[in-house]
Amino acid sequence: MQTYLRGKDMITTQEWTKDELDTVMNVAFELKRARAMGIPHASLRDKVLALLFFFSSTRTRSSFEAGIAQLGGHGAFIDSKTTQISHGDTAKEIGEIYGRYYDGIAIRHCDWNAGNEYIRDVAKASRVPVLNMQCEIYHPFQILADLMTIIEKKGDPRGKTITVSWAYASSYLKPISVPQSLLLLMPRFGMNVRLVHPPEFKLMPDIVAQGQENARRAKTSFEIMDDFEAGIEGSDVIYAKSWGPLLTTDDPVKGKEITDRYQDWITDERRMAMAADDAIFMHPLPADRNIEVTDGVIDGPQSVVYDEAENRLHVQKAVMALTMS
Ligand code: CP
Repeated sequence: MQTYLRGKDMITTQEWTKDELDTVMNVAFELKRARAMGIPHASLRDKVLALLFFFSSTRTRSSFEAGIAQLGGHGAFIDSKTTQISHGDTAKEIGEIYGRYYDGIAIRHCDWNAGNEYIRDVAKASRVPVLNMQCEIYHPFQILADLMTIIEKKGDPRGKTITVSWAYASSYLKPISVPQSLLLLMPRFGMNVRLVHPPEFKLMPDIVAQGQENARRAKTSFEIMDDFEAGIEGSDVIYAKSWGPLLTTDDPVKGKEITDRYQDWITDERRMAMAADDAIFMHPLPADRNIEVTDGVIDGPQSVVYDEAENRLHVQKAVMALTMS
């Protein structure tokens, strides 16, 4: 267990050792138990976390705000549109200045070719830890919550298979940060990965290569497939969600036209029955119901989406408690 993580940024789990991530999991389970038993755990009394959003959120904002309050601190929600950022405040200035007001800076910035760079520029200038609430490349807190949920539902994740699949959605071209972060983290905890998508929905080659390298080191398998049903067959964890064909085109009109070719990529009861008997269905939400996944699956006995959403709270509290104390 690592006992000194003060000041460490969480931008991607790749920058945390396995031992450090094990510590996050341990602390998250401890905090979840403490909350269940009504045991106060205000280890961040008087600490303030900036929550800077360039993109909307239901779960991320609420779980960070609730989490910092439960730790005895305060979350300051800042909508980027209400700041002077569009009038010239640079990432360096935000890092320097917010770093002097706050004890941590959490940022969601998902703009293509801009979000991750922005978060890293803030981190370079900041004297306090910077937490990535989602960029165009990574969504580390979602995936830590996913790992916690898999451990709760399946026990030791080693040797289990996770299917990280594309699914159809009609609402908007969703970011690729969730599947990319899954590919990076799950092999490090011993899971076999099946990445499944139509040809136009490739993920960033260097991220896939890092995931493959993580799998090689952990001696797990890493398959890339383009057949949805073959990808589900016998798998322990079905994590099927939509993402945009962003490596093929960043034009939303062309992207929608490509996406609409694959309207049959929906997780329904028939497909879910192809997975292992005790398989679980995961989705970070929001989902396009009856387009991406049927009500029968997402509301059914194999779905763990609400525990997954709850665990955002516990893993985020763990990282805040470890880095901001
Ligand atoms: N899963 C997730 O990040 O949800 P929000 O976009 O609502 O924060």
